[in-house]
Amino acid sequence: MAIEQTLSIIKPDGVAQGLIGEVIHRFEKNGLKIRALKMIQLTKTQAQAFYAVHREKGFYDSLTDFMSSGPVVVLLLEGESAIEKNRELMGATDYRKAEPGTIRADFASSIEQNIVHGSDAPPTAQTEIAFFFNHLEKF
Ligand code: CMP
Repeated sequence: MAIEQTLSIIKPDGVAQGLIGEVIHRFEKNGLKIRALKMIQLTKTQAQAFYAVHREKGFYDSLTDFMSSGPVVVLLLEGESAIEKNRELMGATDYRKAEPGTIRADFASSIEQNIVHGSDAPPTAQTEIAFFFNHLEKF
């Protein structure tokens, strides 16, 4: 067990549904500390860059349209096993397979519009944190 950092995004559907407070409450009550936070709207090009690993997938164009369709809230989370903890709180990518009580099981409306994104491994977390936050924005 180690203290880790991970990146979370409350996606445009989560922001539009008024779930910013609910999602942040779930992070904080489960021991994840917020080290950075901002609300932004990604351009299509920025969404394409963030999700470049998926560029060959059939859902890439739709996903990057969706992710640039409205504001998102980006958070740097820190805590014991933060990457796995965040993934547990989110639930499976496909909300129909997510454990009851997870964010996606409770609120997602499709495999694409699944409320939150979270880093999947330590190297990805470092890349994703650096994509959104510079050293002046982190506490
Ligand atoms: P996220 O965890 O942000 O990582 C990639 C995103 O692609 C995923 O959540 C979904 O929003 C989106 N997506 C759309 N279709 C699929 C799919 N068939 N499989 C996985 N991810 C998908």
